[in-house]
Amino acid sequence: MNVQGLTGARVLLGVSGGIAAYKAAELVRRLGDAGAEVRVVLTANAARFVTALTFQALSGNPVRSSLWDESAEAAMSHIELARWADEVLIAPASADCIARLAHGHADDLLTTICLASAAAVSVAPAMNQQMWAHAATQANLALLRERGVRVFGPGSGSQACGDIGAGRLLEAGAIVAELIAARGPRALAGLNFLVSAGPTYEDIDPVRFIGNRSSGRMGFAIAEAAAQQGAAVTLIAGPVALATPAGMTRVDVRSAREMRDAVLAQAARNDVFVSAAAVADFRPQIMAPQKLKKTGGALELSLVQNPDILAEVAALPQRPFLVGFAAETENVEEYARAKLERKRLDLIAANQVGAGLGFEQGDNALLLLWPGGGREQLARADKRDLARRLVARIGEQWRAAREHT
Ligand code: PMT
Repeated sequence: MNVQGLTGARVLLGVSGGIAAYKAAELVRRLGDAGAEVRVVLTANAARFVTALTFQALSGNPVRSSLWDESAEAAMSHIELARWADEVLIAPASADCIARLAHGHADDLLTTICLASAAAVSVAPAMNQQMWAHAATQANLALLRERGVRVFGPGSGSQACGDIGAGRLLEAGAIVAELIAARGPRALAGLNFLVSAGPTYEDIDPVRFIGNRSSGRMGFAIAEAAAQQGAAVTLIAGPVALATPAGMTRVDVRSAREMRDAVLAQAARNDVFVSAAAVADFRPQIMAPQKLKKTGGALELSLVQNPDILAEVAALPQRPFLVGFAAETENVEEYARAKLERKRLDLIAANQVGAGLGFEQGDNALLLLWPGGGREQLARADKRDLARRLVARIGEQWRAAREHT
């Protein structure tokens, strides 16, 4: 599978005021082509040159331009936006925008986000050649570079004002290439990841089923983290109400048997299989063809065991690196260690489940165990943060296992 250079990256594109602002529309498309999810913030001056509607249509996301927009703040506050981004790219970056960034201003949405975000910041300057050459601009850029801000360009040539010289915004393709190069090789580039997520539903009759409370969040976060680290990801999703994270192939299934078929069809061509799905262990022996009617007495359901998907993948002649989960209500470490051995896994992520824990929550805590006594405790945190750390550990263990063989 062809892995795009920005697969899974969440890029916040800041557009500041200047005639080159119209070129940012092409940049949104190029970032999307490279696999990034893009959200756009326009400064007040940018909005004089270009419309929010253009960027909304191209990015597929609402565009923000004011710090004081109450409805937008209710949907995704500027702090959430700052946390959401893993790249802030400002293109075009005007002389004024560069000056305000250098001096830590926070008087509009874009500069506030830059201060509030831990994301890497890149600027692609665009301005008149005299403004570019001015000592103040160069000193501001030196300050930004010192703080780790990347500076892409500018190019040089004829300018909108009729001058000739340095200060032209780089072409969209060149900015994307600079961003990809600046991010460096990602740890999982070239690896194929198969991730299962969510519950399975086992039908009793056309309207009823046996299921569980898995929301799919943990598995989706793992798939997203692996894609962000450069892996080509296939996500096998049980019935959940979650959007597909950027840059992956998704296969929807309903029952454990459908999930098994989808996993087995993919397993051999993947390097890693992470089984985060809460697969139903049992299903009704017979699915009633019509809705079951009340009879006045007890209803007896005969249940049969579902296939153990992990065990079937473990038995394949060419098995991927196997990561299982253990959902336990007690004796978490002891039961998880036993599962690691019994299911012949390469790593297990154990979580305590129960009221307010594991299932359906936005956060979780994981205990990672691997053969030979390996152990890492991941304290309670947002599932996305945990997933990044789990995926980093999987990468490390996968490399160690490969060196061993
Ligand atoms: O989806 P969320 O709301 O975010 O909740 C996350 C979670 C709690 C569902 C997740 O963190 C989790 O623990 N997933 C595994 C749940 C589970 O089924 O655990 P288990 O201990 O019953 O199963 C052990 C392992 O065998 C799991 O990797 C499971 O995917 C796998 N399995 C189980 C049964 C089966 N028939 N086939 C399997 O492959």
